[in-house]
Amino acid sequence: MNEWMRDGRPTRVGAGSLLPVKSRGYPVKAALVLLAGLSLSWTFVGIAEAQQAATANTCVSCHAGLDDEDMSLPVFEWQRSVHSPAGISCQDCHGGNPASNVEDVAHDVEMDFVGLPDPYIIHELCGECHQVQMDNYVPSPHGLEGDFWPNCVDCHANHEVLFPTASLISTPDNCEDCHEQVIMDDFIALTDRGLEPVNEFRQAAEEIRSAGVPVDMILAQASLARDAYIQRASHVFVLEEMIAVVDSLEQVYPGIQKEVDTARTEVDTRRRFGWMFIGLFLVLAGVIWLYRRVLPDP
Ligand code: HEC
Ligand code: HEC
Ligand code: HEC
Ligand code: HEC
Ligand code: HEC
Repeated sequence: MNEWMRDGRPTRVGAGSLLPVKSRGYPVKAALVLLAGLSLSWTFVGIAEAQQAATANTCVSCHAGLDDEDMSLPVFEWQRSVHSPAGISCQDCHGGNPASNVEDVAHDVEMDFVGLPDPYIIHELCGECHQVQMDNYVPSPHGLEGDFWPNCVDCHANHEVLFPTASLISTPDNCEDCHEQVIMDDFIALTDRGLEPVNEFRQAAEEIRSAGVPVDMILAQASLARDAYIQRASHVFVLEEMIAVVDSLEQVYPGIQKEVDTARTEVDTRRRFGWMFIGLFLVLAGVIWLYRRVLPDP
């Protein structure tokens, strides 16, 4: 789902290979099997506990079973969202007590329960965790002149919050009340010009890393560029301002591209050397084989 591959580093498995154990005889093997068994059962206990903790949220369990669809649908939409796997749940936006199975206790206003958040303060609700976006949105045309319309959930939805792209959000039914299609096309094109290269650098870096060449510099520069976009262009909703930021980023992108190209050349060189060694090895093996054949039998 997450195109940015934020933590997309390939995990290294097999660091503690069991191979050498083979030669160490049964006692060691048996001890290892025992240890593996123990750690496995620990893992299962861990998983069971985690599952219990996840289902122990009473907002989720009670609402999922309510007959009124308006009351149960939020659960299933939220489960598909980016918030659910990130551990952001009902009480993070609605307050209340997620440990009680009694409706009135769970909906306790003393515990800051809010039924329907006021559309005029939704940006503050989301902004508690997404401050950069709120800070850019409030003085934008949608915050000031637009009278907080569209607000965060008009564009991102309230429960099925997905990883956003410009084309996902600027569907005509959201924006056409106030905008000509040409503004939307310009907006999508600008967002793509600003963010697509960063996506591509990150993807290239992951491929290069898997071939063993270090890519920390590339990733660091890609992150800087993305942060600059998010801080200065995202959610400002003024095309002129966005153009200025994207133009300045396009001055930086060729430099990053050059680093990517250099790293790719390094990958190619390593591969070529690898093949050369294999070739040399095969030739050597052939020579030894021939040599042994021409030797007289002992
Ligand atoms: C034991 C069941 C139960 C639990 C637990 C529960 N709710 Fe509810 N909730 C309901 C019912 C039933 C309604 C509909 C009540 C109504 O229409 O007055 C409701 C309504 C709501 C509404 C809509 C309010 C509105 O004004 O439209 C929200 C939001 C809500 N719950 C959030 C939560 C959150 C957050 C939690 C956990 C902290 C929670 N609920 C825990 C049963 C529950
Ligand atoms: C990211 C914040 C967020 C999370 C997480 C969240 N909600 Fe909501 N929820 C909202 C907002 C905002 C509204 C009001 C939307 C609006 O005004 O359009 C809302 C509305 C509702 C409503 C009223 C729906 C209706 O049609 O009247 C219910 C019920 C509800 N939420 C339940 C839940 C439950 C249950 C969970 C957990 C599974 C949950 N919400 C998680 C932000 C959230
Ligand atoms: C209690 C903290 C919290 C609240 C409140 C909250 N979010 Fe989030 N949100 C997160 C976390 C954590 C993530 C996942 C990590 C990340 O990617 O930043 C996330 C991810 C997102 C994403 C995807 C971005 C990405 O980089 O993957 C969007 C869009 C988003 N939230 C919108 C909203 C909206 C709209 C609201 C208000 C209705 C809201 N959030 C309320 C914590 C929160
Ligand atoms: C007019 C529609 C619109 C409104 C209103 C809006 N957003 Fe967004 N949001 C977008 C678009 C489009 C993107 C993806 C492109 C970008 O980042 O510029 C996005 C991206 C995001 C992201 C992901 C940024 C990342 O890390 O890539 C978060 C988080 C987010 N918005 C939160 C919010 C919050 C919080 C609010 C309210 C203060 C809000 N948005 C209001 C359209 C909107
Ligand atoms: C309630 C009306 C309203 C809605 C709905 C709305 N906007 Fe806007 N938007 C405005 C206003 C007002 C401005 C500032 C004046 C202008 O440039 O049109 C603006 C400006 C913009 C701009 C900058 C335009 C420029 O020429 O600089 C972008 C981009 C934008 N909105 C995107 C969106 C997107 C994407 C959506 C749909 C998710 C959307 N808007 C929905 C009212 C709205």
